[in-house]
Parts: sequence; structure tokens; C-alpha cells
Amino acid sequence: MRIAVLGTGMVGQAIAGKLDELGHEVSVGTRDPGATTARTEPDGYGNPPLRDWLAARPRVRLATFADAAAGAELVVNATSGGASLEVLESAGAANLAGKVIVDIANPLDFSHGMPPTLFVKDTDSLAERIQRAFPESTVVKALNMVNATVMVDPASVGGGDHSTFISGDDVGAKQVVTGLLKSFGHTDIIDLGDISTARGSEMMLAIWLRLYAALGTPAFAFKIVR
Ligand SMILES: NC(=O)c1ccc[n+]([C@@H]2O[C@H](COP(=O)([O-])OP(=O)(O)OC[C@H]3O[C@@H](n4cnc5c(N)ncnc54)[C@H](OP(=O)(O)O)[C@@H]3O)[C@@H](O)[C@H]2O)c1
Repeated sequence: MRIAVLGTGMVGQAIAGKLDELGHEVSVGTRDPGATTARTEPDGYGNPPLRDWLAARPRVRLATFADAAAGAELVVNATSGGASLEVLESAGAANLAGKVIVDIANPLDFSHGMPPTLFVKDTDSLAERIQRAFPESTVVKALNMVNATVMVDPASVGGGDHSTFISGDDVGAKQVVTGLLKSFGHTDIIDLGDISTARGSEMMLAIWLRLYAALGTPAFAFKIVR
């Protein structure tokens, strides 16, 4: 499949890298490809600059958000939650129309220090905001409650014996995303329901952040025991 991964951070790299490995045709979207590839310093977490990551993946194309989305059949939103709507606007509603948008972003607000709070919760969610802003696209919330590494390598924690959640209004779009998650190695994929159920998975960040602090590692996941 031709897939646009909007976002050059840890999540964008993890998802784009995995999709490339699985044989998909991947474009990564960024604000300014020239500026992004000109960066030579490691990111804030000490990861190498994107140019090194790209050099190791010659099939992956770096493009503007709009160019990446235009050529894609499916779009992944892996951008900072506070910028996601702006990024998708710059990708262009016409380039997103008729396509599935897999929304991995979290509505984190770092302006009051750590841990971040959620700038939307309980009565609305980032996923719903995206769905309302792009009614001709079908938004599926997925993977936002695990670390980037666990998203694409679920077996790296608990041998993969954990659960993941999807939310969305469109049954067909959720089937497509379920197929992708299975190809990543996820086995217990729980369909929470329509896009408003993303309020639940986004609010899981409140507990995820406390677990990260308590456990001292982001390498964990949630298992739902029936
Ligand atoms: N890190 C994780 O393990 C993890 C786990 C679950 C969910 N998430 C969520 O996944 C998303 C991506 O996280 P991340 O850690 O990979 O990266 P991030 O630093 O949250 O986001 C990086 C991306 O956001 C874009 N961006 C940031 N500010 C922008 C602005 N003002 N205008 C336009 N674009 C802007 C950047 O564009 P440029 O490319 O142009 O710089 C970059 O592509 C976030 O919503 C995060 O909450 C992260």
C-alpha cells in the first residue's frame, strides 16, 4: 500500500520504518524537507538526526505534508498533538479525502510542566476533532497508548501478550487498520466503538505517564483480562 506517515519524530520513524520493512511504499511528511534533512544534531532524546535514518532506508521518501498525503492511499498522523490539526490542514483536505487517517497523536499540553496534561478530554477528543475537521476522511484512533517501540514490536514486552485499542466510525477503515496492526504483531485488538471512544484511549495517557514514572521505563503495555 502507498502510505504517508506525517511526522518525523520517534513515532513517525518507528511506523514508517516498520511499514517499509513490510514492503509498503512509504512517504514521510514534514514541514520543510530541506530543513529537516539539514539537521545534523541528535534529537532531544539523543536519537540520530533524520538524515541518518533516511540514509539507512533508501526506499522511504521525505516530502512535505501535502506531497506525502497526495500520493498516499492511507495516512498516519504521527505529529505533535497540539499541531496535528494544523499539520492536517497543511496536508490539504483534498489530499486526505476518501482516505483512512490512522491517528496516533495524543493531545498533550506541556505548557504547565511535567507530567503533561490533556488539552482535550472527557467530552471530546483529538481524534473527534480531526474527524470533524476532515469529514471526507475516516479517522481511526490506534496505538496511542503504547511507546513507539511497542507499537511496531509488540513482542518486545511480555512476549506480545497485551491488548491494543481502536476507535472509529467506519467499519471498513477499522478493518484496514486491524490488518496493519496484525501485520505489526498485535494479536488482541479491541474495537472500542465509534470515534468518540477515543476519549477513553486518549485519557489512558494519564495513567500511562504515571506508570512510566513509577516503572522507570516506557517498555510496558496494557493487557485486558476477560
Ligand atoms: N513518543 C512515543 O513513544 C509516543 C507514543 C504514543 C503516542 N505518541 C504521540 O505520537 C505523536 C508523535 O510523537 P513523537 O514523539 O514521534 O514526535 P513529536 O515530537 O510529538 O512530533 C513530531 C512531529 O510533529 C511535527 N510538529 C511539531 N510541532 C509542529 C508545529 N508547530 N507545526 C507543524 N508540525 C509540528 C514535527 O514536524 P517537523 O517534521 O516539521 O519537525 C514532527 O513531524 C505525538 O502526538 C505523541 O503524543 C508518542
